[in-house]
Amino acid sequence: MSERTDLPPTDPADMGWDLEHSIPSLRIITMPKDTNNLGSIFGGVILSYIDQAGYIEARKQGLYRWVTVAMEKVIFHAPVHVGDIVNLHTQTIRVGTTSITVRVLVQVERFVSREIVDVTEAQMTFVAVDENGQPTPVVHQS
Ligand SMILES: CC(C)(COP(=O)(O)OP(=O)(O)OC[C@H]1O[C@@H](n2cnc3c(N)ncnc32)[C@H](O)[C@@H]1OP(=O)(O)O)[C@@H](O)C(=O)NCCC(=O)NCCS
Repeated sequence: MSERTDLPPTDPADMGWDLEHSIPSLRIITMPKDTNNLGSIFGGVILSYIDQAGYIEARKQGLYRWVTVAMEKVIFHAPVHVGDIVNLHTQTIRVGTTSITVRVLVQVERFVSREIVDVTEAQMTFVAVDENGQPTPVVHQS
């Protein structure tokens, strides 16, 4: 599988993505059980939430059996701390024949200061599969 060249810019501002008025696809509060040995939130936990938020975005294209085929990019810009409120914003950036590519921007509201911080960005692709696990065409939503 070669690298995609049909994707738009990564900067939300360049994408016309108005995050201030975007409703998060997923919101969670971080708990002590999710920490790593440094006391911040384990990156794998954030990846799991990114996967869930991406799936919620994928469902907007239809109630298919969406499976994650690739996490093409994940950048952890800043740590997440216990008690932070995590907002996962999603946007579909490409709809293919059987797959869609979604961008996820993770922002936190800090527990004490309430400061909003962009902590993680990701790009991932989901494939619609049939009952045999084979890719199946997506009917494009208008
Ligand atoms: C998803 C899966 C069915 C795709 O099978 P495949 O034989 O690679 O399918 P195809 O080559 O026909 O590609 C199907 C679509 O996926 C896209 N795709 C395949 N591999 C990809 C990759 N590495 N990155 C991005 N997109 C990819 C193709 O571009 C194609 O998209 P399009 O139809 O919109 O053009 C198969 O790889 C699979 O079952 N993977 C496991 C999924 C899973 O269990 N996820 C959970 C992880 S625990």
